Amino acid sequence: MFKIRQRNCLLIATLLVLAPCIVILMIMGPELSTEQSLTQRLAECHMRLQYLESMYRARQEDVSLLSQYVGQLQISSSSSSNNTVTGITSMPSSAVPAFGPIASLVDALSPEARQLLRNASHASRTGVAQRYTPTQNIRLPNAYHFLPHLLDDASSLRPAYLQSKGRADVSIVLGVPTVKREKQSYLLSTLHNLIENMNEEEQNETLIIVYIGETELETVQLIAKQIEHSFEQHVESGLIDIIAPSPSYYPNFETLRITLNDPLERVKWRSKQNLDFAYLMAYAQAKGTFYVQLEDDILTKRHFITTMKKFALIKSALTKRDQPAWFVLDFCQLGFIGKMFKSAELPYLITYFQMFYNDKPVDWLLSYFIESKVCRTDKDQKHCNQEKAKYWQHFRKSLFQHIGTSSSLKGKVQKLKDKQFGSKVPTYYAHIHNPPAFVKSNIAPYKNYVLKRAYRGETYFWGLLPQPGDLVQFIFEQPILLRRYLFRSGNSEHPSDRFYNTTVELLPADSLSENSSVWSIYNTTTDGYLVVGAFDALGVAESVLDPKIGAIKELRLHVHSDSENWALLSEIELQQMGANGEENAAKPRFAAGS
Ligand SMILES: *[C@@H]1O[C@H](CO)[C@@H](O)[C@H](O)[C@H]1NC(C)=O
Ligand SMILES: *[C@@H]1O[C@H](CO)[C@@H](O)[C@H](O)[C@H]1NC(C)=O
Ligand SMILES: *[C@@H]1O[C@H](CO)[C@@H](O)[C@H](O)[C@H]1NC(C)=O
Ligand SMILES: *[C@@H]1O[C@H](CO)[C@@H](O)[C@H](O)[C@H]1NC(C)=O
Ligand SMILES: *[C@@H]1O[C@H](CO)[C@@H](O)[C@H](O)[C@H]1NC(C)=O
Repeated sequence: MFKIRQRNCLLIATLLVLAPCIVILMIMGPELSTEQSLTQRLAECHMRLQYLESMYRARQEDVSLLSQYVGQLQISSSSSSNNTVTGITSMPSSAVPAFGPIASLVDALSPEARQLLRNASHASRTGVAQRYTPTQNIRLPNAYHFLPHLLDDASSLRPAYLQSKGRADVSIVLGVPTVKREKQSYLLSTLHNLIENMNEEEQNETLIIVYIGETELETVQLIAKQIEHSFEQHVESGLIDIIAPSPSYYPNFETLRITLNDPLERVKWRSKQNLDFAYLMAYAQAKGTFYVQLEDDILTKRHFITTMKKFALIKSALTKRDQPAWFVLDFCQLGFIGKMFKSAELPYLITYFQMFYNDKPVDWLLSYFIESKVCRTDKDQKHCNQEKAKYWQHFRKSLFQHIGTSSSLKGKVQKLKDKQFGSKVPTYYAHIHNPPAFVKSNIAPYKNYVLKRAYRGETYFWGLLPQPGDLVQFIFEQPILLRRYLFRSGNSEHPSDRFYNTTVELLPADSLSENSSVWSIYNTTTDGYLVVGAFDALGVAESVLDPKIGAIKELRLHVHSDSENWALLSEIELQQMGANGEENAAKPRFAAGS
């Protein structure tokens, strides 16, 4: 009976999800020109269904466990006054409810679950129990087996800090674990960068969860305050959740086993990371269809949410019956950054991390997990890699970059320095007589390497990941007659941080007459700029201008494609026409190193 009702519920849940999907399909019908978008929509419905099904299973699990418990209570009568539930709730399904008196546990259930429970306990009283079949179920291991210290404190799974507007049922959940940093923290710029690269629609279907892996409440509150202050609007809208575990969630790290011959500090660090990820994933699991693991010091690309979702749906739609569906979609080559999972499958990983948290680093565990799934001991490594690649699929480009290590190109830098042994290679070339101008760029500067200072010759400009349409603008205080310009991108330490596919464009002060010969020399942009040059393969843009252009109001660099690298300007030289200009030209060009 009970079974049948459950199945009915599942059927209803299925219909509730599928019906709107089918309606959407019928309404959108004429607009969907290709079969592909149709299959993508179906895949989306299918994924969502999987996620809702897993939510429903979690409820079923609650009910099943509670009904067992109620059954036991009745059998062993009420002589035992120990009414805390211990050891019967597995972590994935219990991320939110804490343990306590059974009444409060029942209160925490949804009305349907409460009804189910009432029915179930009724059934066990009238039917099963009377036949006096053994009431002790086989007890399967769960989180408490692997993390027994969780039993020491009844609130070990209750968050110590939680800021949430309760957003759930989104398409993509982003998990951002963070800790207090001794040096510079990139958390806020990472969040800023994530949000900046989403449009409103993407923000609406996303949840960012910041997990603060600190045990001192003051530290947690400090970090949380910073986030709430800097992103008030987004915390209010429900885009950002902040969560921190109870200190009793963590074991005593001093007593960990030394594994892999690592120093204790490293064992502690990687064990904690495993537990942090498990907690974050457990909280995230109920919040949306897909989960993406991130870090607190990364940069991303515009519309990364749409890109990831599209890729996930295409991959899901293409999965055939006889092939394993994907388990990981990888949007970044580094460690555990940019790995996407189906929320419905997160419990596998969470449990795996709990089992082996003291043994291996988290990215190794992911790899071993996949190997356990698909590799065979009777086949070679090549076969294993082939099978793994089906299960762990890569997006062709990295959508995420590590702030700390990006562009530093350690090997190359070393070589360059070795070659130049003894003499310091300047990291920029200063020009202090550039014409007065207001400078700006929508390429975010890194640290203090801002455009204004670079233009004055005080340092170089270093910006993060240029995107198509990005501009570096020099708007002159007075229109000037420009004789020559030179831009050098990249420098000795960051040779690859050049401007790629970037043009140099000018805005004439007076509109040129229609038959001006300038038109036959230069192309123009739709917004009226003359395209006078571009960065070459060596990262340099340099040219002497046709005097017919006349006075100009503005010069700008215009980026046309997105780049895997940051952009660095190590030399900016704008020479004006006339005596002043010639004087400038006579000055020593390579003025300063850093
Ligand atoms: C519980 O039992 C009642 C009466 O037998 C029934 O009407 C109801 O649908 C059941 N509820 C659930 C959630 O199965
Ligand atoms: C995003 O959500 C807000 C609030 O629900 C709504 O007002 C807005 O129209 C949504 N925007 C888009 C683009 O869906
Ligand atoms: C350009 O056009 C103007 C009138 O619009 C005319 O007076 C002038 O001669 C033209 N110059 C050339 C080079 O064609
Ligand atoms: C102008 O545009 C054409 C086609 O887009 C291109 O072939 C040509 O090289 C461009 N000329 C200059 C000076 O940029
Ligand atoms: C430069 O960008 C344009 C516009 O995105 C693109 O069509 C072109 O292929 C790019 N060129 C190179 C060399 O990447």
